[in-house]
Amino acid sequence: MAVGLSVYFLARPHYPTANSCSTAPSKRQPLSQSFLGAGALSQLVQNVTRLPRTVLPRHYDVRLLPILEKGNFTVLGRVSIDIQCLQSTDRIVLHSSDIQVDLKSVQVIERGADKTLSIERIDYETVAEFLVIRLNVGQQQGKAILAKGSNYTVSMNFVANLTETSAGFFRSVYMEDGVERYMAVSQMEPTDARRVFPCFDEPNMKAIFTVTLGRHRDMMALSNMPLINTTQIDGMDNFYWDHFAPSLLMSTYLVAFAVANFTKIEADVAHGNWKFNIYVRTSAISQAQYAKDIGPKTQAFYEDYFQVPFPLPKQDMMAIPSAFVGAMENWGLLTFGESVLLYDEDVSSLDDRQTVVELVTHELAHQWFGNLVTMDWWTELWLKEGFTSYVECLGADFVDPSLERLQQFVTSGLQAVMRLDALESSHPISVLVNHPDEIGELFDDISYKKGAAITRMLASFIGDKSFRDGLTNYLRIHQYGNAVQDDLWNAFDKQAKVDQVFLPIKVETIMDAWTAKMGFPVITVQRDYKSRNISVTQKRFLIRKSNSSTADTTVYLWWVPLTYTTDFQTIGSTWLADNQTSKNLTLEFEVEDNQWIIFNVDETGYYRVNYDAHNWKLIGQQLMTNHTAISVINRAQIMNDALNLARAGLLDYETPLNLTEYLEREEEFLPWESTLTALSYLNSMMQRTPGYGLLKNYVMKILMPLYNSLGFVHRSTDSHLTGKLRRKVVERCCSLGHKNCVTQAIESYSQWMADPGNTTIVPSVLKGVVACTAIRHGGELEWNFAFKRFRESNVASEKATLLSSLTCTQESWILARLLEMCLNPAVGFRTQDALDVIKTLAENPIGRFMTFNFVREKWTEMTKIFNSIHSLAHVFESVTKSFNTDMELKELSDFVGKNKELLVNAMTRSTQQSIDRVRSNVSWMRLNYRQVVNWLQQNNPATSQQSST
Ligand code: BES
Ligand code: ZN
Repeated sequence: MAVGLSVYFLARPHYPTANSCSTAPSKRQPLSQSFLGAGALSQLVQNVTRLPRTVLPRHYDVRLLPILEKGNFTVLGRVSIDIQCLQSTDRIVLHSSDIQVDLKSVQVIERGADKTLSIERIDYETVAEFLVIRLNVGQQQGKAILAKGSNYTVSMNFVANLTETSAGFFRSVYMEDGVERYMAVSQMEPTDARRVFPCFDEPNMKAIFTVTLGRHRDMMALSNMPLINTTQIDGMDNFYWDHFAPSLLMSTYLVAFAVANFTKIEADVAHGNWKFNIYVRTSAISQAQYAKDIGPKTQAFYEDYFQVPFPLPKQDMMAIPSAFVGAMENWGLLTFGESVLLYDEDVSSLDDRQTVVELVTHELAHQWFGNLVTMDWWTELWLKEGFTSYVECLGADFVDPSLERLQQFVTSGLQAVMRLDALESSHPISVLVNHPDEIGELFDDISYKKGAAITRMLASFIGDKSFRDGLTNYLRIHQYGNAVQDDLWNAFDKQAKVDQVFLPIKVETIMDAWTAKMGFPVITVQRDYKSRNISVTQKRFLIRKSNSSTADTTVYLWWVPLTYTTDFQTIGSTWLADNQTSKNLTLEFEVEDNQWIIFNVDETGYYRVNYDAHNWKLIGQQLMTNHTAISVINRAQIMNDALNLARAGLLDYETPLNLTEYLEREEEFLPWESTLTALSYLNSMMQRTPGYGLLKNYVMKILMPLYNSLGFVHRSTDSHLTGKLRRKVVERCCSLGHKNCVTQAIESYSQWMADPGNTTIVPSVLKGVVACTAIRHGGELEWNFAFKRFRESNVASEKATLLSSLTCTQESWILARLLEMCLNPAVGFRTQDALDVIKTLAENPIGRFMTFNFVREKWTEMTKIFNSIHSLAHVFESVTKSFNTDMELKELSDFVGKNKELLVNAMTRSTQQSIDRVRSNVSWMRLNYRQVVNWLQQNNPATSQQSST
């Protein structure tokens, strides 16, 4: 099909000889050290990576024809950009990378005067990813050619790549009806629009985009705006141009294109302001019903919540079959990996449904937060990602309240990121970034989850009304423009004043410390039971303080909103200032000596709390006598704080271990989730020690009442969280080897093996644990069955569950075969699948050392196959995470020492983190192992005779 294409479309590009754009950018030194105080370096690269603001784009006409043909995957393109000159200059500098521009086609016209300007030369600055068009100054030596205030149009033809990776305009390959099919779709964020068409690829250079996409008769094309009309492509039978309506003012990273043979599903929308459609491959239509249901509802909710209408005439959600993980908020054309948009009631699990809700509500919230008002620069990425990660919970609570999403944020968001943020090697939310490598690194839990956690804290101290109205004002003031975090703080500050909310100082000052400093405080509450005096102190919480403290001069103190209660009826509140290490509290109410006091009500504050021994005892007594007197979230908070305080050496292990005894009566998901996550550290430290038997018996003992009351089988009347809790309990019991649990799992799996087409035998919520247990206790047959189902399944989320169960085998040879399969292209694992398998295998106690050996042996090969350093860093982290002996530390250091060049530059920080983590594990064992074992012996009389040394 491509033969002769260039004739009608554009002349074959003339490849430049010097500074050729067709060569890949030279290998740069990755700037992964940037978080470690490389501000100066960042400043340096700013000059080479930011565009001059001499001209600004106003309108783009982009025309692209993706060639979906094996052996010839390219994109033929033409772009014409209307620019306005803000400051006289002799050149136009814009972004372009891995694009072959037809240099002869480049034209600059002065609009109005209809004058074509002569071009002196065109250069590619490959490191900066710039295309520089210098205009001919001729006789007017020294004079600027582009005059301030005048308007020009720059246009050119080019050929871009239809890449294999999911960056830029890429191809997705999938099977349908036994046939291999191709589609083309784009992913621009953060800095890949420049790989699709030459453009001013910075978030604050907003413009209007008019898009035209070429496609075969059998395909459909989609972009941000609705289709206006279709014309035939001259000289090409069966090929058409789809012309789309001009967009609103928007950033390049939100532009989207797709060409695919998909089916459209129209959702019902109550009003006529916008249409809402879902696009999927035809054989997946039935799985799109849930997304179709919640999509428009969520969008309508946000219109109401933000009090700003969705401004586009249509919204599309598209499921990409392969090579795409996660989701992207392109304005008017959201893209999702299939496993996070599609949901099949029969085969997908509860968590799968939750994932769909999370991603749909997240990307839709971005339509306001990010798309309508955009961060000024990537340094403020958290402003859209963190904020959205909080607001999505409000959307989810509206569209599917049964998920209790906001409540779950406490464990999955706040407590999860605290684990990371308690490391000395964490980083602040706001980081100065310039280079694309640095920008990419910002999409991490700190931006998302810490960003969301401090937003939740803010919403709590200014109150829901001021939060909501402040947001509306912010969106209305900055719509179609860009903003920095201070703009948002100011909007809240103004609203809080209007609403007469008491604040000790401006919102901006309170929040700045939370975004500019890494980490968070532990608040220690010390009660003097004689004088009834209460003092609180703040200090940065670190899971382990290294000996080699760096020259960090930051003062780790924050503005801390304190809340406290003794009965969950009356809540007191006060502030700790960012210059106060300690303060004596005057409480708003009396507290009896024998009454507990709990701080950080419902864990809305981003900090941990420690108490004097007596108050811990009082809390423990309350939990033992009537735990429901303490809120569910605070039960989760107390368990999580206490176990982590002990891990950090700030509390004796006896305190949290005593607290766990109350769990025999706990029936709520959150406290269990929070405790089991914190206990999993003990599990991974002790798994290969003689004391593990004691730990196993103890955990089983506290789990038993719940296992007995919930049972193994899912009931349709269960709430979402009960379902999740059962899965958690069953998973734990089966993995601890509980007889009844294991037998039921094996039984259920063998019934499924006998009747593979029957989806009702294994309830989808338990499919993971059933398959994993049967494979763990089974052999080749069980393994082969799961592998076959994995290959045949049409449902992406089921595939992921089965893939993970393959790593549960205890047969070394099957493990070895699986490892080998990961690197064998003929097996057909997607790169992401192979990485997931290796990471999960590393968590299998038998698999761990095989995996470590495998990774050591195949490192060179792996660096070639898995070209993303980021993913390899995660593999390395998983494999070494639970090492805790001097011997293992030595093996790790030896490998790192010997393979400096193999561990590629960008991994220096993460390998160092791995070594640090192992060091801290070794020291944990030295300091705490005996203490924990002693406690377990005393509290587990039945097994206390066992050897545990
Ligand atoms: N804007 C991001 C997608 C993205 C991530 C683009 C990283 C470029 C680099 C999108 O809004 C997002 O955050 N997606 C998440 C899911 C979300 C629910 C946390 C994802 O893809 O994992
Ligand atoms: Zn996002």
